[in-house]
Amino acid sequence: MTDSKSIIEVKDLRVHFGRGDDLVKAVDGVSFSILHGETLALVGESGSGKSISALSLTKLAPRQATYAGGEVMFGGQDMLTLPDADLRKIRGRRISYIFQEPMVSFNPVFTIGWQIEEALTLHRKEVDRKAEVARLLDLVHLPARLTRAFPHEMSGGQLQRCMIAMALACSPELLVADEPTTALDVTVQREILNLLKELSEKVGLSILMITHNLGIVSDLADRVCVMQKGKIVEEGETRQVLDAPQHAYTKQLMAAVPRLRPKK
Ligand SMILES: Nc1ncnc2c1ncn2[C@@H]1O[C@H](COP(=O)(O)OP(=O)(O)OP(=O)(O)O)[C@@H](O)[C@H]1O
Ligand SMILES: [Mg+2]
Repeated sequence: MTDSKSIIEVKDLRVHFGRGDDLVKAVDGVSFSILHGETLALVGESGSGKSISALSLTKLAPRQATYAGGEVMFGGQDMLTLPDADLRKIRGRRISYIFQEPMVSFNPVFTIGWQIEEALTLHRKEVDRKAEVARLLDLVHLPARLTRAFPHEMSGGQLQRCMIAMALACSPELLVADEPTTALDVTVQREILNLLKELSEKVGLSILMITHNLGIVSDLADRVCVMQKGKIVEEGETRQVLDAPQHAYTKQLMAAVPRLRPKK
């Protein structure tokens, strides 16, 4: 049974690559849930399994991956056993992703407005598309004139905002933001993540946020899961985890960020 307060519940998720001597347990028994309207941060060193966990929520892990066990309960169904046709109705519509590299999310030959409209056509046939594109651009604080711009005519930060607009085009219930800002400078990073937070408050969106930036976690996440080698080694309210980290690995992560050192 899914807890009705949770939008998604991951139980003992296992995702493997390779076999025999080459077996990599990328995700090795991960469990977490996200409440409605909550922002959960997934942190941890490179290669610890954050992206594979996030992608596995809708079985988007690379083709070579094996789903070796566990459940991902969303809307009363296990995403890992759901037929592909049903999964496709959830991906991008009820669970939306913002990927690491904004450029790859756009087709260079079409305008931004056209691409957001496409997302609307695919997922929400009933809306007035022009008005909805304008509303979405406004929501991410972009001027309406950018409807007519091509991806290469926009800055990195503007593209990130468009990507968020596109991800929101289908009014998702859960937004997965996998390090949406690494390519950007710190000020833009913060702006974008503030925007996500604002949206989560405005439209009641739940967010799974993956980042290396503990400052951002501190400001924006309600709860944190710390991953190491495919496992969650620490989990709790953001304040509690950052102020009094329990696990040696979390302490080590914290020590690398001077201003976040736990208070004595
Ligand atoms: N296509 C693949 N084939 C084989 N192994 C893979 C593949 N993709 C990921 N892995 C392995 O799965 C593990 C988890 O990778 P993942 O991308 O989830 O890490 P991450 O925590 O997101 O790291 P980063 O912070 O660098 O993005 C790593 O050991 C990685 O080498
Ligand atoms: Mg990653």
